Amino acid sequence: MDNLNDLPKKLLPWYKKNARKLPWRENKDPYCVWISEIMLQQTRVEAVIEYYNRFLKAIPDMKTLALVDDEKLLKLWEGLGYYTRAKNLKRAAREILEKHNGVFPHEYALILELPGIGPYTAGAISSICFDLPIPAVDGNVLRVLSRITNSSAPIDEQKTKTDIFNMLKKIYPKKDPGDFTQALMELGAVICTPQSPKCQQCPLRTRCRANAAHTVSNIPVKSVKKAKKLIYKTIFLFECHKKFALIKRKQDGLLGGMWQFPEIDGKLSLQQAVNAAQEMGVHPVQLYRKTEKSHIFTHLKWDMRCYHILCADQTPNFVWETLEKIRDTYALPTAFKQFIEES
Ligand code: ADE
Ligand code: SF4
Repeated sequence: MDNLNDLPKKLLPWYKKNARKLPWRENKDPYCVWISEIMLQQTRVEAVIEYYNRFLKAIPDMKTLALVDDEKLLKLWEGLGYYTRAKNLKRAAREILEKHNGVFPHEYALILELPGIGPYTAGAISSICFDLPIPAVDGNVLRVLSRITNSSAPIDEQKTKTDIFNMLKKIYPKKDPGDFTQALMELGAVICTPQSPKCQQCPLRTRCRANAAHTVSNIPVKSVKKAKKLIYKTIFLFECHKKFALIKRKQDGLLGGMWQFPEIDGKLSLQQAVNAAQEMGVHPVQLYRKTEKSHIFTHLKWDMRCYHILCADQTPNFVWETLEKIRDTYALPTAFKQFIEES
């Protein structure tokens, strides 16, 4: 296996010079770093900045988070997706208050026990906030390490992640381990990007095996994935006196506890949709618009047809609100929100 001993001394000076100024890098407060690291999973840095600032303003500390209203929490998270992440933040905050007197634990093993925190997040918090020499292996780090070692081990397999964690653990610096964690991520985010990496500007180019072997564009390798399950739905924008029908999703499962427009399985014809609407207790008067959109989740894809229908009255089966109120106060998943974006 490759000798990686030289990585810290090549990457740390590069990082000190080139690190982007990001709000969560302004201090090493574990609460702030934790929130940022959870948001940064699956979401791009540029998109996270605004969410992060708004979240910290609304929920500035552990106690506030432990007691926050679920609706408020989901509204702050709206658009980031993977809503279980938000719910786990609150669960972990409660646990920290109950088990650790409100103080974020300083030990990797204890951090790893918290809800919603896996090896990546625990490593990031341990190294960035507590100066522990523990790696944090995310997609960026997997890509950089696979390229510099010219490895075609599939990065979506657990064994590859464990191997890379163990390789890095041996060479983690005692001084500035948190900067080393962020340097690896930063290199992956700005230089060693998935497409067209900037090898000319890379501090590791002279020791990068993929660069030497001209295999950069073939690495990293992923194992073949199962196709996402496709689900067809019909969504209803029932409108009456400028208000729209909403219904709350059940607490558990996908998008649990969030709001949505009424829906029914399958893609219905207009006639079928009118019949279904009547069964839901609304009285359709006029079709305004039919639109088609899709939304991709981790294991699913929703293929949706939406009927925007004027109705005669507001059945109490639903909550009726103006678009403005829906946008401002209801946690509406992006899958549904897209239907009111330009109406
Ligand atoms: N992605 C995940 N963690 C990050 C961090 N601390 N800085 C920038 N990008 C990140
Ligand atoms: Fe990535 Fe290119 Fe740097 Fe190798 S030389 S680590 S492929 S950016």
